[in-house]
Amino acid sequence: MNRLAVLISGSGTNLQAILDACASGELPDTQVAVVVSNRIAAYGLQRAKACGVPTLYHPLKPYRDAGRPREEYDADLAAKLAPYAVALVCLAGWMHVFSMAFLKHYPQRVINIHPALPGAFPGMHAIERAYEAYLRGEISHTGVMVHYAPDEGVDVGPVIVQRVVPICPDDTLETLEARIHATEHALYIEAIRQVLGLT
Ligand code: GRF
Repeated sequence: MNRLAVLISGSGTNLQAILDACASGELPDTQVAVVVSNRIAAYGLQRAKACGVPTLYHPLKPYRDAGRPREEYDADLAAKLAPYAVALVCLAGWMHVFSMAFLKHYPQRVINIHPALPGAFPGMHAIERAYEAYLRGEISHTGVMVHYAPDEGVDVGPVIVQRVVPICPDDTLETLEARIHATEHALYIEAIRQVLGLT
């Protein structure tokens, strides 16, 4: 059985896509062994509980308040995660940049989804920034990528899969977001299949 950890900070629609793919057999012999959130209000935690998946809440604030470096936060999360013996760590809207204190425990085994093409719009609000660039006539399409997260770079690393998403003249930010999220949900499953050698 391939065991996954999925790390979230928000709604968790990508987590849901992964849970659904495990249940449907689209990800055969694969299960989400644990869901981690750094935000207690992340709706994805409810999604995990509804599927009977264990959850971990690991907030940064107590570390910040105590003046402890984020490397300690990262190392403690790695220690909490270790008993779940996961083959792959899937970042799915995880709003925290890992240091090597976490990443060294999962070489070639941390992947991230980003709602833009490689090199374009790293960081927050990628869809909004792409939409604004489209309105200024600078781009005609955007996209989605899943990549390895080998180091502290933000939304950068060896690309596993990418897909172009067109922007249409009558798009609003909302319709573009919907098209990108639908693409993400399919592409993340494709990436996990590829990384686990299921294709
Ligand atoms: C996704 O757009 C993902 O690419 C980005 O954050 C968003 C998370 O959405 N990194 P969700 O929590 O999976 O619904």
